[in-house]
Amino acid sequence: MNDLIESTAWLKLKEHYETIKDVHMRDLFAEEPQRFEAFSASLNDILLDYSKNRVTDETMELLFALARQANVEEWRDNMLAGMAINSTENRSVLHMALRNRSNKPIRVDGRNVMPKVKAVLAHMRDFSEQVRSGEWHGYNGDRIKSIVNIGIGGSDLGPHVVCESMKPFAQRGLKAYFVSNADATHLVETLKQVEPESTLFVIASKTFTTQETMLNAYSARKWFMDLVGNEKAIEKHFVAVTTNIELAGKFGINEANIFEFWDWVGGRYSLWSSVGLTIALYLGMDHFESLLEGAYDMDQHFQNAPLEENIPVILALLGIWYNNFFDAQSHAIMPYSQYLERLPDYLQQLDMESNGKTIDRKGHRVNYLTGPIIWGQSGTNGQHAFFQLLHQGTKPVPADFLIPALSQNPLGLHHRVLFSNCLAQTKALMLGKKYAEAVDEMKHQGFDKKTIEEVIQHKVFDGNKPTNTIIFERLTPKTLGSILAMYEHKVFVQGIIWNINSYDQWGVEYGKVLAGQIQKDLSKPGDVENHDSSTNGLINYRKRVYFDEIEKSGVD
Ligand code: F6P
Repeated sequence: MNDLIESTAWLKLKEHYETIKDVHMRDLFAEEPQRFEAFSASLNDILLDYSKNRVTDETMELLFALARQANVEEWRDNMLAGMAINSTENRSVLHMALRNRSNKPIRVDGRNVMPKVKAVLAHMRDFSEQVRSGEWHGYNGDRIKSIVNIGIGGSDLGPHVVCESMKPFAQRGLKAYFVSNADATHLVETLKQVEPESTLFVIASKTFTTQETMLNAYSARKWFMDLVGNEKAIEKHFVAVTTNIELAGKFGINEANIFEFWDWVGGRYSLWSSVGLTIALYLGMDHFESLLEGAYDMDQHFQNAPLEENIPVILALLGIWYNNFFDAQSHAIMPYSQYLERLPDYLQQLDMESNGKTIDRKGHRVNYLTGPIIWGQSGTNGQHAFFQLLHQGTKPVPADFLIPALSQNPLGLHHRVLFSNCLAQTKALMLGKKYAEAVDEMKHQGFDKKTIEEVIQHKVFDGNKPTNTIIFERLTPKTLGSILAMYEHKVFVQGIIWNINSYDQWGVEYGKVLAGQIQKDLSKPGDVENHDSSTNGLINYRKRVYFDEIEKSGVD
């Protein structure tokens, strides 16, 4: 039994939906000339324009009432007070402590965690400065030129999106690589680009047990040993980021080069912790701290701004409006910035691993939709791939468009063109094109009546497709920190309203267990019969091909 869809705030929204579902945004804009001012919110240089949404003042009031009914503010304060809001794992959720730039203590089980957080930041500063200055060098005195981050999920996606997005701030001559996939190709192709003498491997794993990461870490270690042949050299080329000091030590990493974090930091919320070591190495600690400052500013905004002006809360509520009342299955992320190309990937884990849940906090199956499918691509590439479906397809796809007002690479007309395209898309999605407008346009273009009749229906656009535009001055570490924290809080608010635990990931754990069983079956000769027929058939196919190959080549 779930209370949410029977609650007062929900029922009022349902009733309101009936009155608004056929209202066109074009008419809302015509009726309300101040719509942009009325439906926008800002923090520092970040401006959220949410006027191109299918909402009125009344819709927003009802959505804010839903947030209040779910006690979003109380949950937010409980999270920051160190309460174990990750109930299925009995853990606090305190990634905000990692970027707490104030002197205020943050406690877990009565203990202030800030001294530990600051000590690890100091360790990261010291180490990254040594590497970047050349004081830390490879076993034979070579300067470190390549950082290879080995990790997966949160131990990969966070540092990866930041390093990609912040390339203009990176140190010349230093390259960052990311290896995550169990497919050896990922590691092999990366190792072709680096030299052992000038490479530093950062093994990033919260648990230090994740199969893909351990596989890649041990294969990288073997590659290194095969080429260098000196066990002692390992400590100059391998460092670890983990909560599991013991296992990192067993791998052969010198304790002084293990960068700690804690179980109150979720994997997908960990880039602010020592998981950000690759960021600090690549960009420098000052830039890493600017990233933390940007996130801290967003945290302060999230904690203090009234719900009506609170950017993450507004984004979360709009998401719920489409997800639960318009039955939108997905939400698209369109960064109009090549540097933000990896943002959709990062947000997929953040959002889908957090809110891809069917069981509520009380252990009941929910009877409403929870987290959407997150997808997207950088503009303008997406325009020439899937935007057709957004404009004229049958599925509603609400989307966020992100764009800097100024480019990091001001080159001729490029940014003006990019900017025009971004705005043209959100405008077209909102306005659409009426039948009469399409006819006039074709007449103007000199088409005859017959041709117009034949194609006119294809030239009509319904419009009324909702988008948010998130614009900022320039993509800097600070702005990026604020944007990433904004999405974290959006996901939190939605999880609270849907009454699910956004901080566990049992579905992923299940896959890991089954993979272990199948792996054992793949090593034994002969067909297997102990799975379902599909799994048996696929295992046996691979085994036949594999064992034939061994027989032919004589090499295992
Ligand atoms: O994908 C499941 C998961 O547990 C993520 O939550 C986590 O980010 C990833 O695996 C990697 O885990 P670890 O950092 O422990 O290697």
